[in-house]
Amino acid sequence: MRLSQKASKTAEYMALFRALETIESPRIRLFNDPYSKNFLSAPLRIAELLFRTPLVRQFIHGVMDNRWPGAFYSGVARTRLIDDVLRSSVQDGINQVVILGAGFDTRAYRLPELRTCAVFEVDHPSTLEVKKGVISRLPTMNTEHVRFVAIDFVEQSLEEILLKAGFDKSNSAMFIWEGVTNYLTADAVDQTLRFIANCASDTRLVFTYVDKAVLNEGSQFVGSKALAKTLNQIGEPWSFGLNPSGVNQFLQDRGFELVEDLGSVDYRSRYMRNRYTNSDVYLRGYEFYRIAQANVK
Ligand SMILES: C[S@@+](CC[C@H](N)C(=O)[O-])C[C@H]1O[C@@H](n2cnc3c(N)ncnc32)[C@H](O)[C@@H]1O
Repeated sequence: MRLSQKASKTAEYMALFRALETIESPRIRLFNDPYSKNFLSAPLRIAELLFRTPLVRQFIHGVMDNRWPGAFYSGVARTRLIDDVLRSSVQDGINQVVILGAGFDTRAYRLPELRTCAVFEVDHPSTLEVKKGVISRLPTMNTEHVRFVAIDFVEQSLEEILLKAGFDKSNSAMFIWEGVTNYLTADAVDQTLRFIANCASDTRLVFTYVDKAVLNEGSQFVGSKALAKTLNQIGEPWSFGLNPSGVNQFLQDRGFELVEDLGSVDYRSRYMRNRYTNSDVYLRGYEFYRIAQANVK
C-alpha cells in the first residue's frame, strides 16, 4: 500500500458505509455509528447528507452498487458480525482489544462494553494522525481507554511497538484485523499472525481476507475488475489473499485453531435476509471477501 502523507481512502469509504447504515431506521439498521460521519471529506459528507432523503438514498445505493457491487452490503454486515464477536469475547472476560489497521473504526467509542477494556488502535501514521485530529475536535469521544499506536506492518515489528505501547502479552486479548490483510505482504501477514499466536492462552482473532483468486487479472468475480481499477487509482491495490480451502491449515501452521470461516454470502444472509425480500439486492458481488475467526492454540 502506498500510504504517504494522506489517510487511507479505503478507511474513509468504510466510514462512509457505516455512516450511511446509521441513517437507516433504528428498526432495521445493523448498528449505530454516530461518529463515522466526522471522518468524511467534503464530497462524501455531502453524499451522507443527501442520503437522508429517501429518493436520493435509492440513487446513491444504485451508484455504489453499480461501481462496486456488494461492497456496501458486505462492509456493513461484516461490521456487525465483528461487533458481535467482540461483544461476546468481552462477555467472556477479555479486557484487552487490539484493532489492527483500525482506520476510522469507532468501536472503541460506540460500544459501551469496550469502555472498561484497554483498546489499542494500531494503524499507519498517515491514517492515525488524521483520526487523532478528528477525535481531538470531538469532545464527546472519550479516549481514556484507548492507546493510539503507529506502525507500518510491512516495515516494523508489531510485537516491539505494541509492547512499548503497554500491551500485556501475559493477558489474553481480542485482535481485530478488518479490511487490512489484503493490502499487506505475505511476510507481514505471517509475522503478525505468529506474534498473535504467541500471546496468552484464550487470545482470539477475527480477520478478513480475500479469496486469492480475485487478485488474478482474469478474475471472474462480479465487479472485481472495476474494483481493482478504483483501488489502483487511489493507490491502495490489493496484494494478498488466501485460498479458502487452505485457511484451516494456514492458521494451524501458525498456531491457531479455526473457529469459523464465512464467505460474504453467509454473513450477508445472516444479517440481511430479514431486511430485503429480494436477495439480489444484498448478495450480488463481493463473494471473494471472507471473515475468519480463530483462537490461539
Ligand atoms: C480498508 S481500511 C480498513 C480500516 C478499518 N479496519 C475498517 O474496517 O474500517 C485499511 C486500513 O489498513 C491500514 N493499512 C494498510 N496498509 C498498512 C500498513 N502497511 N501498515 C499499517 N496500516 C496499514 C490503512 O491505513 C487503513 O486504515
